[in-house]
Amino acid sequence: MKHSSDHSAAERGSFSNRLGYVLAVAGSAVGLGNIWRFPYLAAKYGGGMFLLIYLLLVATFGYTLIVSETAIGRATGKSPVGAFQHFGKSLPFRAGGWINAIVPMLIAPYYAVIGGWVAKYLFEYFRGGVHTLAQDTAFTSFISNGASVEFWFVLFTLATFAIVIFGVEKGIERMSRVMMPMLLVLAVCLTVYSVTRPGAMEGVKYFLIPNFKDFSLMTVVAAMGQMFYSLSIGTGILYTYGSYMKKDVDIEKSTAQVEIFDTVIAVLAGLMIIPAVFAFSGGTPETLQAGPSLMFITIPKVFESMGMGTFVGIMFFLLVLLAALTSSISLMETSVSTFSDELGLNRKLCCVLMAGLMLVLGSFSALGFNVLDFVKIFGMSILDFFDFLTNSLMMPLASFTTCLLILRTAGISFVEKEVLLSSTFRRRSLYRFFIKYLVLFCLIVVFVSSIANVLGLITL
Ligand code: PHE
Repeated sequence: MKHSSDHSAAERGSFSNRLGYVLAVAGSAVGLGNIWRFPYLAAKYGGGMFLLIYLLLVATFGYTLIVSETAIGRATGKSPVGAFQHFGKSLPFRAGGWINAIVPMLIAPYYAVIGGWVAKYLFEYFRGGVHTLAQDTAFTSFISNGASVEFWFVLFTLATFAIVIFGVEKGIERMSRVMMPMLLVLAVCLTVYSVTRPGAMEGVKYFLIPNFKDFSLMTVVAAMGQMFYSLSIGTGILYTYGSYMKKDVDIEKSTAQVEIFDTVIAVLAGLMIIPAVFAFSGGTPETLQAGPSLMFITIPKVFESMGMGTFVGIMFFLLVLLAALTSSISLMETSVSTFSDELGLNRKLCCVLMAGLMLVLGSFSALGFNVLDFVKIFGMSILDFFDFLTNSLMMPLASFTTCLLILRTAGISFVEKEVLLSSTFRRRSLYRFFIKYLVLFCLIVVFVSSIANVLGLITL
């Protein structure tokens, strides 16, 4: 039954309608990437300039790749491996499919480690730990406690597992329908609070107004990497969710809605965090350059120094936890779908397998800051290495294979036909132009600059 095309859509789970689909894909897209990664990158790469470039990329390059992956997923009714093999069984097709399929299997474990950190912070705020978490050493002393990190990581993984095991419609869709609107409301409340603090306006300006002296190639490369990550491009997820999409759902419209939702949450997170940094720590260059620790070190300090810090802390980390959970669900679901399509095993068993894989692989990342902290790969901790490997190398490579599949085998018209089934495809000429001329080129730029960065030839 594995690769036969008679694997009917009826046996496969599916989303009940467009809203269900959009919420689930938005659930995948909106995650730590929006709330943790986007604000620190924007703070570091010049605020408004970064935002402007990011928006342009999402509307063109991101749009092209999402439409491509979703349409091929729906047309073939398969997760990435099956989708590629629909067009041929030789090595390049198998390799292309598997590159896309393996990415979520590698991201899911370390993503759950960070999800665990978030759960721990939420728990501490509930316990009234607003002062403890604001200490300089709070974060490092937490991640250097192997048992504690492992505990929270396992808990987060089990929560993901518990939802995925219920399946597409009952588990994922139902969960997203509740969580995504809640997340939007929470984000709006926190943003309003943050931008109305005295001194916050400077931060708002920094974040929203592009300054042309901040433009550099690195800004473009960082924005592009962020776009992949944030929109879950090149991870097999859009193929898989596309295969669960009914034929009458408008691919163009739903892609636009997902992009808008994802970008709105990222911009809100920026407006929540960057002005708070200005209002409470003066927006000094050091605080703006804090990087990954912005959310775990700088933000708790901000919360401590304001009124109602415990309440805001709870709201904020709850928001991040929800966002991380829906993304983690999509990572696990995609891997489960690959297992069940390719190994022909029953879904529940595949869920158990994937949870096992996450627990084993993720433990290396969890312990990489404590028990295994002597392990460094190209100077990176285990978690950072997995992040680099997937986000900077494998995701561009996976998208590269998708483009080649379209340009050399499937044909642009294959994608267009699928989109046209249920949409007028208004941005068809934009799509054509990008897929033909620009996407491959941009992917090569990201890939090469990531390698140059890790070899120390340039600094990102
Ligand atoms: N898009 C998610 C986020 O922004 C992360 C993610 C990446 C999820 C890749 C799935 C696949 O956090």
